[in-house]
Amino acid sequence: MDFSCIDIGLEAISFFQERIKFPFQKINDILKERSGIIDFFEKEDEFIRLLQTLKINQSIAVESRIEYGDYQTNKQLAKSVCNHLINKKINPKILLEPTCGKGSFILSAIQTFKSLQHIFGIEIQEKYLWQLKFELLEYFLKNPASTKPQINLYCCNVFDFDFQQIQQQINGKELLVIGNPPWVTNTTLSTLNSKNLPTKSNFKQAKGIDAITGKGNFDIGESISVKMLELFSGANGNFAFLIKNSVIKNIVYEQSRTQYPISDIEKYTIKAQKEFGAAVDASLFVCKFNSAPELTAQEFDFYTSKPAVTFGWVNGKFASNTEKYKQFQDFDGICPFEWRQGIKHDCAKIMELERIDGGFKNALGEEFELEEDLVYGILKSSDLQVDRIDRPRKYTIVTQQKIGQDTQPILEKLPKTKAYLQNHKDYFLNRKSSIYNGKPMFSIFGVGDYSFKPYKVAISGLYKQTRFTLVEPNGSVLMLDDTCYFIGFDTLEDAQIIQFLLNKPETQSFIESFMFTDAKRVITKDLLMRINFSYIAQNTDCSELKKKNANFDIP
Ligand SMILES: C[S@@+](CC[C@H](N)C(=O)[O-])C[C@H]1O[C@@H](n2cnc3c(N)ncnc32)[C@H](O)[C@@H]1O
Repeated sequence: MDFSCIDIGLEAISFFQERIKFPFQKINDILKERSGIIDFFEKEDEFIRLLQTLKINQSIAVESRIEYGDYQTNKQLAKSVCNHLINKKINPKILLEPTCGKGSFILSAIQTFKSLQHIFGIEIQEKYLWQLKFELLEYFLKNPASTKPQINLYCCNVFDFDFQQIQQQINGKELLVIGNPPWVTNTTLSTLNSKNLPTKSNFKQAKGIDAITGKGNFDIGESISVKMLELFSGANGNFAFLIKNSVIKNIVYEQSRTQYPISDIEKYTIKAQKEFGAAVDASLFVCKFNSAPELTAQEFDFYTSKPAVTFGWVNGKFASNTEKYKQFQDFDGICPFEWRQGIKHDCAKIMELERIDGGFKNALGEEFELEEDLVYGILKSSDLQVDRIDRPRKYTIVTQQKIGQDTQPILEKLPKTKAYLQNHKDYFLNRKSSIYNGKPMFSIFGVGDYSFKPYKVAISGLYKQTRFTLVEPNGSVLMLDDTCYFIGFDTLEDAQIIQFLLNKPETQSFIESFMFTDAKRVITKDLLMRINFSYIAQNTDCSELKKKNANFDIP
């Protein structure tokens, strides 16, 4: 049997891949249990040949799935989305699916929207369009009485497609732009050397360090959504896209600048793990075209329609919960302190150390000695889940006191540290981020006078929690890694006051009102720099602080 001509699904591929070493008889037993098929393989030779074919095909399938952000919508979900739209009295005459894949939305739309006259589908992968054509044929052969809209299917890159031909056909008729664009970011595509990018590849126009450190990172699905809004938001109709929550947030955020004529903006959260087997937060984004621009979105649960928060712009500020924000908006201002991000070295195997008897151990399991001069305890996000901390689990080598400092003079005085770093210099040279280009050997980032302040008030950028931790020295100053943000202080008292002000219930509510818990970084520097300490201090009863720190004298 030549297995290369069989279309084997990804589930089945991983099923066999995970059982590569299983004896032949055991595989047949499991297959019987899972599928009911007796003697799935009649001969062992068939099993071996299948594995050889999968080895080649799997890597191609997985790569193309990543490159095309290929998560096809299951038919049941597509049908529920169409039912949801028709219940909202959305009943289009023209339908556009700009990345239609196997066409779940097109097939469901034909069954749901009886007034459809014209469907346009675009898809880059030819195999999907063929599958869709045969499914459509099958459907209409089985249902000859069904109304048949005119259907145009194009095998094309959506970024190259000339949408003028569709715009000309709209002619005032009700349009629905529906779909589920690719789930992949430009950064992932650049690691694959893929060209599946919008022509303006720096679509967010991020400049300098932002472009390098990820603020220029965007979802291909976002650029397709924005393209659709640019082209069609002035038409009579609606928009319904399954997209990542981060993309919806960005669209609403940008609304204050773009002012697309969209209203009734709604976000219906779905269970992406259940629907797509993908560990992302995603929702159905719905809005009405050709209306006065709105700057907020109402959130619901897709399955129950239960309303949740409204997010978006309030009085010129962007909030994750507009109602809560209005309650605490006086806390919004300019922070008088500079929040700092912790140390970035991108070299965990060599720079994340454990203290062992008589020396250190790195993540490669190597044991060695170092002079103590550059060794500091370092805290990670997971260490900051307590009220105060003075004991590190990990240590690191702080090779510089400020960014760009020459590392050689100090290393000349520390032969063991120098030898350790030199022996592992390839790990440093192979760091991917371009921020290290042209910098002294063994450079780190996120270091400055502030790193060496003895007391710090810190928070993790990754965890969905808003409590701040007091970091105290233990013999020497403790550092934080680049997943954390902090303010450094010279005295314990200053740090305690700031921690107290930050952990007050009102400040916590204020932070919650504009942090997005499904963002990759829940807490960001931009968010922290909005905390108006003077307002908070003026409205704080200092006796509360005295009670918390009984032997503490407040000036
Ligand atoms: C997340 S899947 C969804 C498919 C379909 N919309 C659905 O709901 O089932 C994204 C689809 O976009 C297609 N795609 C990716 N990049 C594309 C591009 N540049 N132009 C057109 N289609 C593209 C993929 O091949 C894939 O079929």
